[in-house]
Amino acid sequence: MYKIAILYGAVRKGRQSLRAAKAVEKVLAASGSASVALIDIKEHGLQVMEERLKDMATPLPSLLTISKILTEADGIVFVSPEYNNSYSGALKNTVDYFTKEWHHKPIAVVAASDGYEGGINASNHMQLLILAIDAYAMPYKLLFPYVQNVLDEEGNPLDERSERHLKTFAKEFLWFTEAIANRKKLD
Ligand SMILES: Cc1cc2nc3c(=O)[nH]c(=O)nc-3n(C[C@H](O)[C@H](O)[C@H](O)COP(=O)(O)O)c2cc1C
Repeated sequence: MYKIAILYGAVRKGRQSLRAAKAVEKVLAASGSASVALIDIKEHGLQVMEERLKDMATPLPSLLTISKILTEADGIVFVSPEYNNSYSGALKNTVDYFTKEWHHKPIAVVAASDGYEGGINASNHMQLLILAIDAYAMPYKLLFPYVQNVLDEEGNPLDERSERHLKTFAKEFLWFTEAIANRKKLD
């Protein structure tokens, strides 16, 4: 059983991409090979980062909670809407708080938009972010164009394409996570 953390980066009122985070949570949990923790950044009310967690004299409880989940995770998924051709500022702000938590982690990206592009720019930028934090970006990415139409509010797929891509994503991500987890056992 692999421990998976989903870091979901939209805090906007009326956010639609929460459907994508829920869909990923469900498909991974349904695999029977993963215990999944969804970190919803909105629930933590993080301020704009002035100091990284490792430098804080009095760490915020929220950050310690997130740090523990990330540290224990065998694999991580970043889920973000596309905002102005990139991922959300809230996701970047959260990522910036942490350092060693990312080290050698396999990280996959999932993006969503309300139009036909499906968050392709957000996904590309998240993969670059993953390289910057000393983690491994999974090549296969999951995009949800017209997210409000293809997933219901609980993250259930409403069309065949979304269902198929979710299953492929789960298979690829668990393979990627397992490969890196097995190598770490030799350390
Ligand atoms: C500030 C802002 C910028 C956006 N920029 C883009 C964009 O560059 N490309 C795009 O496809 N959708 C863009 N959108 C639309 C979002 O993809 C859309 O709101 C979608 O539902 C996912 O975001 P949400 O989770 O906040 O709803 C933008 C939305 C906001 C609020």
